[in-house]
Amino acid sequence: MVILGVETSCDETAVAVLNGRAVTHLLSSQIDLHKKYGGIVPELACRRHIETIGPLFHELLTRASITPSQFNAIAVTVGPGLIGALLVGVSFAKSLSYALQIPLLAVHHLEGHLAAIFLEYPEVRFPAVALVVSGGHTELYRIPEEGVYQLMGKTRDDAAGEALDKGARMLGYDYPGGPVIDRLAQKGNAERFRFPIPAVEGLDFSFSGLKTALMRTVSGLKDQNDWSSLHPDIAASYQKAIVESLIRKTLSALKQVQAKSMLLVGGVAANSLLRRRMKEEAERVGVAVYIPSPEYCTDNAAMIAMAGRSHFERHDFAPLDISPQPHLELLSAPSERARPVEAT
Ligand code: KG4
Ligand code: ZN
Repeated sequence: MVILGVETSCDETAVAVLNGRAVTHLLSSQIDLHKKYGGIVPELACRRHIETIGPLFHELLTRASITPSQFNAIAVTVGPGLIGALLVGVSFAKSLSYALQIPLLAVHHLEGHLAAIFLEYPEVRFPAVALVVSGGHTELYRIPEEGVYQLMGKTRDDAAGEALDKGARMLGYDYPGGPVIDRLAQKGNAERFRFPIPAVEGLDFSFSGLKTALMRTVSGLKDQNDWSSLHPDIAASYQKAIVESLIRKTLSALKQVQAKSMLLVGGVAANSLLRRRMKEEAERVGVAVYIPSPEYCTDNAAMIAMAGRSHFERHDFAPLDISPQPHLELLSAPSERARPVEAT
């Protein structure tokens, strides 16, 4: 089976071909376009997607040595995301689906991040707990079986990636700040500054207090002569507080669910400390940990094609009049929706 994946929900234009287990994926990042604004400018993102998607698709056909007539279906991210950005990918996919007379598969962006696991690890055992950590999301899900997602906890304010991006910005670095903090922290002493590990009841997260604590530290130190030499220690201490909060809640969720597997996905799952600590801690309590390779953690279209494949297998095809849905909730597979969801 050959599935084309299309992803344009935020600032990456991405296309991929999933041909059996073989993946070819291409990505055009807009980081340089948005850098000077300190975050993503939706209108600019949308225009750049329009310019990029056609040429990127043609390059994909060449790289994968494939012709459109070989596609069996087209999977596209329908939400959540920036409305204008989503519209570009959805319109592109709808046109191809109509022209080639093949099914359209509407994929939730987070379902895509979760499917990234199956690109590399088909053997995951259930029940599982998933931590989805990206620039827009910090959520814990119980997954009793493939395709069934039950929300257990989420951030009450910023997402973890957002907290890292804003933290890096306070230190004077460009967007996206997560990879910068990761790099700086590797040379820093995480014990030098004491940032509070956010404590919220239950399985929810909160990073706004931590961000305020960083702001206070920065304003107290930034006029010192050796200011930039403090960045690695500040980054390491700040990153540690975020990572430890993610670990603590995940461990509670694993216990509640009696999980066999832990899935760590989303852009922040590329973080080296989080990857290492999650493996250590979850494996210590006997749970297998699955984390995609860093290239499949951040937004890409291979994960969308993979999620699309399970829609295809259960004949969950989208009509040609679908619209992008910027605030879409992650729902379970249609056959599971009727089941009562246990209280979490
Ligand atoms: O999943 P993603 O590519 O886009 C969204 O769906 O949001 O995630 C982007 C987020 C950004 O906040 C970025 O700073 C963060 O992932 N990120 C990282 C790393 N690489 C990307 N955060 C920490 N360490 C990294 N190595
Ligand atoms: Zn994402």
